[in-house]
Amino acid sequence: MTETVLLVGGGGREHSIARAVADDCALYACASNRNPGIRRLTDGFDSIDETDADAVADYATDVGADLAVIGPESALAAGVADALDDAGVYAFGPQAEEARLETDKAYQREFMEEADVPGCPDYAVFDEMDAACDYIDAYDGDLAVKPAGLTGGKGVKVIGDQVTAEEAKAYLRDSDYDRVVLEERLVGEEFTIQAFVANGDVRTTPAVQDHKRAYEGDEGPNTGGMGSYSDTERSLPFMDDGDYAAAVGVLEAVVEALPDYKGVLYGQFMLADEGPKVVEFNARFGDPEAMNTLPVLETPFINVLTAARDGNALPELAFSGEATVCKYAVPDGYPVDPDSGAEIAVDEESVGDALLYYASVDERDDGLYTTTSRSFAVVGRGDSIAAAERQAEDGLSAAGGGLRIRHDVGKADLVERRVEHMNELRE
Ligand code: AMP
Ligand code: GLY
Repeated sequence: MTETVLLVGGGGREHSIARAVADDCALYACASNRNPGIRRLTDGFDSIDETDADAVADYATDVGADLAVIGPESALAAGVADALDDAGVYAFGPQAEEARLETDKAYQREFMEEADVPGCPDYAVFDEMDAACDYIDAYDGDLAVKPAGLTGGKGVKVIGDQVTAEEAKAYLRDSDYDRVVLEERLVGEEFTIQAFVANGDVRTTPAVQDHKRAYEGDEGPNTGGMGSYSDTERSLPFMDDGDYAAAVGVLEAVVEALPDYKGVLYGQFMLADEGPKVVEFNARFGDPEAMNTLPVLETPFINVLTAARDGNALPELAFSGEATVCKYAVPDGYPVDPDSGAEIAVDEESVGDALLYYASVDERDDGLYTTTSRSFAVVGRGDSIAAAERQAEDGLSAAGGGLRIRHDVGKADLVERRVEHMNELRE
């Protein structure tokens, strides 16, 4: 039987989800922007705000969806999974209550502590910004300052890295945050592991390293992620054998405490000298990390989705064993003052063997336009990170003007610096 699948969301992550299932189902999608890559893979597309839970559920019913995949956290926070489940359409994505693991950073830390999930940094939660500032003054060491709610990865300020203690306090006093988490600054190398979760099963995928800073050399403000790489093994070059397993243990401990969790569980880890610590959990695929993971997944993703829905054991996952490098092209000025509404050109013929994923662009009758977020990504694959990086760079000749790219992502010297950094910390 051909399944009818509804995909919610219109970014690069969702384009990679669409490509992973399009050949194996009747695919429909809805999002607030018109992503040409997703539209072309679907039997139907509707422009619907992905946070309008009732409108998404109505569309799912109209197209006869058997199941749905939810891309963005904003949709999870708005209860889109709840509305779909209520309408009898299985949502591969947690309901709003369980998505609090991502959408409420205070809950996330309290949950870890109560459920005894390993890897939780020291933290404190404040509803009063003056009290938070006093804590900064009294704390012996550097802190990360995190608004409790969703900020697209851009609200966190790390003292001793991005800001001074005085700047962090001014940031809090000038903000209208009603709750913040202050936690020990973790030092090390970051990596992501995404797991497919349903029916108590946890199936993990290869580790990925994202690059959050806007500019080359890890300079500039935090972004949603400028690019990312994965290796031929599940681990990354700067990780030791036990690090991947330790991080998987964290994800398994989460699911043990939340046995009804369904969807993707994404762990963002800081590999500190003593092992992986949890920076955050997300309740969905990473963007860009989905674009590293789904192209090398050999197990049909639809089989994961149907097993999840049918209450069966999730299939064991097989991967191609290729390394991947993903690089985003973003509007000039992103993330602080993005040049949205600018017409851009993408020469699809020049992408070559690389994969092209459209992201937060809007396709109109007269052309393709930027929005306030990342425009498109190119993914190279190869038998080493270096080979994948070369393929990604070749593919980037597709990019026209008015876009910015972090060319250093996946380059040998940057990867080598990560390895040296970990070696120094572990000496
Ligand atoms: P988050 O939104 O929690 O993922 O934070 C965004 C980024 O801020 C992370 O990817 C880290 O680079 C940084 N960050 C968050 N928490 C910490 C922490 N406790 N120590 C150091 N860096 C952090
Ligand atoms: N790449 C970071 C995120 O998806 O949150």
